[in-house]
Amino acid sequence: MAAQTDSRAPTRLSEPHHTGSPRPGPRRALILMALAAVGVALASYRFVFLGLEASFFVMLAQIEARPLAFLIHVAASPIALAIGAIQFFPRLRAARPGQHRWLGRLYGLAILAGGLAGLVMAPTSVGGPVAGWGFGLLAVIWIAVTAQAVRLAMAGRFDAHRRWMVRSYALTFAAVTLRIYLPFFMAAGIEYPAASVYLAWMAWVPNLVAVEWWLRRRGSRHERHAAAQAPTVRQGPNPAFVEECQRQSTLMRNDTEMIRT
Ligand code: HEM
Repeated sequence: MAAQTDSRAPTRLSEPHHTGSPRPGPRRALILMALAAVGVALASYRFVFLGLEASFFVMLAQIEARPLAFLIHVAASPIALAIGAIQFFPRLRAARPGQHRWLGRLYGLAILAGGLAGLVMAPTSVGGPVAGWGFGLLAVIWIAVTAQAVRLAMAGRFDAHRRWMVRSYALTFAAVTLRIYLPFFMAAGIEYPAASVYLAWMAWVPNLVAVEWWLRRRGSRHERHAAAQAPTVRQGPNPAFVEECQRQSTLMRNDTEMIRT
């Protein structure tokens, strides 16, 4: 499966290996991921009570430079972060396919708004141009990968849709990974503006590499499984046996001709 086998045949959302509960390990990872995502999303919404300046005081320059884009970004992006996490639970997806589709549309719209706003903010990143390029590239890839995932869902190619959504969410999850790495910089006495030069890249490049590796590994596991399930293909006859038969039949033909003459 994975990137190598983007099957064109439509597959149903309710395929057995996607609807059942994931094994305990992956299930725990899924729950942990969802908790982290919803936690960061909720924390980001503190600006509703505290105001933008008080909530994101390290970004006063950014707020002053791009007030509208900043507001749109911090309002829309957490919605994508929270919704995306829920969408990966197989049981919820199978039990309520209609809800999955509506949440998917909302996820896509939130990324379009949050990503475009992020792109507008990138050139004025508080970390300067290197951070700006990191965030800017992330914004472009985030929108493009998500658009591809949505397009595949609309075309009924759900297997490929799933893989692209995994990639999309790996990028969305940059909001969480950035906040996981940030305290290490703080502990080393590096403030956000200097740290963001690294964080603007570290937050998403490893995520993308990790899910690509995971998708490929999972793909080859599914292929091996499918090969094991497939009915055994009857092997053709042994070539040596065929050759011997041909030799015998030639000898018999020669004998027959000798008898006739
Ligand atoms: C994945 C694509 C994303 C891009 C390209 C992006 C871009 C940016 C940029 C450029 C800034 C300003 C940082 C600076 O000036 O140094 C920022 C801040 C912020 N972003 Fe994003 N962002 C993305 C995803 C998200 C997500 C999914 C969330 C969800 C929580 C989020 C929430 C925030 C918040 C709350 C801030 C304000 C400062 C902070 O608390 O870190 N962003 N983002």
